[in-house]
Amino acid sequence: MKITLTHAASFVQASSLQELAAQTAACNQLLENGQGAGNDYIGWVHLPSSIDDAYLTEVEQTAQTLRERCQVVVIAGIGGSYLGARAVNEALSSSFDAFNATNRKAPYVVYAGNNIGEDYLADLMEFLSDKQFGIVNISKSGTTTETALAFRLLKTMLEEKVGKEEARHRIVAVTDRAKGALRSLATKEGYKTFVIPDNVGGRFSVLTPVGLLAIAVAGYDIRALVKGAQDMERQTGVDVPYEQNPACQYAAMRNALYQSGKKIEILVNYNPRLHYFSEWWKQLYGESEGKDHKGIFPASVDFTTDLHSMGQWIQDGERSIFETVISINQANREVRVPMDQENLDGLNFLAGKRVDEVNKMAELGTRLAHIDGGVPNILIQFDKIDEYNIGQFIYFFERGCGISGYMLGVNPFNQPGVEAYKKNMFALLDKPGYEAESKAIKERLKG
Ligand code: PA5
Repeated sequence: MKITLTHAASFVQASSLQELAAQTAACNQLLENGQGAGNDYIGWVHLPSSIDDAYLTEVEQTAQTLRERCQVVVIAGIGGSYLGARAVNEALSSSFDAFNATNRKAPYVVYAGNNIGEDYLADLMEFLSDKQFGIVNISKSGTTTETALAFRLLKTMLEEKVGKEEARHRIVAVTDRAKGALRSLATKEGYKTFVIPDNVGGRFSVLTPVGLLAIAVAGYDIRALVKGAQDMERQTGVDVPYEQNPACQYAAMRNALYQSGKKIEILVNYNPRLHYFSEWWKQLYGESEGKDHKGIFPASVDFTTDLHSMGQWIQDGERSIFETVISINQANREVRVPMDQENLDGLNFLAGKRVDEVNKMAELGTRLAHIDGGVPNILIQFDKIDEYNIGQFIYFFERGCGISGYMLGVNPFNQPGVEAYKKNMFALLDKPGYEAESKAIKERLKG
């Protein structure tokens, strides 16, 4: 992995970047010694290096049981309890995995509990009706409405279809070691369970069974993923100086850009398989930094697709944005442009070239155009999309996020703002315990 800051540095004052660069060591140290805000949620910092063989084997064996019994596995979870797994699985899968129903080596993985769309749930249940399916239900609190609702529907359906005993073998719960409705339900029903460590918050939990189980079910190599994260844990540690520490460099530069008025960061990819990585990244940075009326707004685009929708704004709109481009050195698969004798489409100048080369020139041309248009550019390069590189990618962004949040002066590990909508929703739905809020909100709506 390589980070290049040249085309961002020219947009900030050298002295302010230097000052921020100097702060990164202390912020990284706060993560290390656990003396910063939210220090009860920094279990992710040394998580990769603490994962042992027995732990991975248990995850793999559970995944194997689901793989043997199920054609489809539903991952039920939301936010940090789902986005990491989806990001990794979609990055590694064929873009047409859904249609690859025959000769599958692994079950098809689908997602639920991440919305309250009745149409979505009806569609999912219809899709599952003629399939052998299982469920991985993931919720740290064990009480999240979206996930609990989807799980109730799917559990009922599964039990009706295969009976309670077989359903018990096809349901796995990933939750808190003791607290929450999901823990008590899993204990009562006798489900296989995995514990989400107390000191790892949702958005930092992809390297726990929250992500690892779903990734192993889909057939991917969780050992290589963890190895990538372990290597990045070393490369971003407190003993690595700023000049060699990509997480410190990223954190310093994005804070320098923020201070110079760049309030929006756009994560850019040129590979459609990375769409959900951007979704994971947006949660990681948005939920960690958007507090106390501060924080860069994390946005994302998929290029070149979105150059035909958002390209105008990025090139020419208000100059409040910067780009962080995820550049993959080489596509995993090879497709070359054929020669055509008639050349009616005028594309023979591309004949013999890989499609990836065309994509690379689009990427380079766009980066240069955006820099010329006043959009600072942070470039992050990875060799290829595989488990090892993705493991690096995940840990790099996590570490960068912890450091950057401390530089901004917020607690990067809580999310008090997420509760506001829940309180209103529960009041409106007359949830027991919300009587006072219910009365107040109904009065307010009358007005
Ligand atoms: O990062 C977070 O903490 C959140 O996004 C949670 O993961 C999300 O709200 C789901 O919570 P839970 O796992 O308790 O169902």
